Amino acid sequence: AKISVIGAGNVGATTVQRLAELEPGEIVMTDIVEGLPQGKALDLMQAGSINGYDTYITGTNDYAGIADSDLVIITAGIARKPGMTREDLMKTNSKIIGDVSRNIAEYAPDSIVINVTNPLDIITYVAMKTTGFETKKVFGMSGVLDTGRFASFIAEELKCSKKDVEAMVIGGHGDLMVPLPQYTTVSGIPLPELLPEETIARLVERTVNGGAEIVGLLKQGSAFYAPSAAIVRVAEAVLKDSKRILPTSAYLEGHYGQEGIYFGVPVKVGANGIEEVLELKLDENQYEILRKSSETIKRGIAKLGI
Ligand code: NAI
Repeated sequence: AKISVIGAGNVGATTVQRLAELEPGEIVMTDIVEGLPQGKALDLMQAGSINGYDTYITGTNDYAGIADSDLVIITAGIARKPGMTREDLMKTNSKIIGDVSRNIAEYAPDSIVINVTNPLDIITYVAMKTTGFETKKVFGMSGVLDTGRFASFIAEELKCSKKDVEAMVIGGHGDLMVPLPQYTTVSGIPLPELLPEETIARLVERTVNGGAEIVGLLKQGSAFYAPSAAIVRVAEAVLKDSKRILPTSAYLEGHYGQEGIYFGVPVKVGANGIEEVLELKLDENQYEILRKSSETIKRGIAKLGI
């Protein structure tokens, strides 16, 4: 397969590194900064002879390089600085992704598009509208990352292996995300059986602020190791047509009472993109957070006027 990664910054380059190790075929990195994707591509090519992968990796500043990609991953744009919310990135990143998406439509009209750029749910909508692609072919990665953060905190609290924790986090990728303890299990045991309510509430709170915690520590830039791992999990489900059930920002048409917006929900991911949205029963408080979160997303889209 041919994969293109737009944006060769922290998230983009780390994603290419992880993807290369899976030997998917060919990977193209693009960026507006001259030399950046070329230099990183060369470095990653040379890592192949040490790590033992034969993935062909190139870098370019020209969108013609992404021609006929099967999968395009968008990571271009600006990231948060301390004190910023993901919404503060909206104006700048929606312009950038408008431009990126027009090029994807022109050069890779048959691709599946995974957007990563924040504010995630709004920018994913911009990408779908601007490419004009079918809604199931354009979606956003955030839930797998939020789920990974929640699972990591749970494993630390229980002093157990991270491999045994299967968590679920839905909602918008922001302060109104909704970690779902009732759908989170540790080796099949529901989380509420293992930890008291107050402890779960503390871990939920830390998950919701998980990205900001890292932004605060780094002082410059935001997280990229866990984000790139999460992107690759979703990308792999597309490349291998594995029908994995993953929380993903998907276009909703009546699901969870929402219409016409992108939002994090569990979906089945395969070669055609989103193959099915799974509807979970939530408690009243969780529905309320979802409603608030969807209003924030709708206000953002209205502000952009697209
Ligand atoms: P970064 O600043 O390291 O890299 C961004 C890259 O995009 C830079 O190399 C920049 O030159 C490039 N770029 C800017 N405008 C461009 C354009 N018009 N065309 C092509 N490339 C362009 O930022 P980082 O850390 O890689 O984050 C990228 C985005 O991903 C941010 O919006 C960030 O908020 C988001 N993010 C989303 C996550 C999620 O869970 N969905 C997790 C982590 C980051």
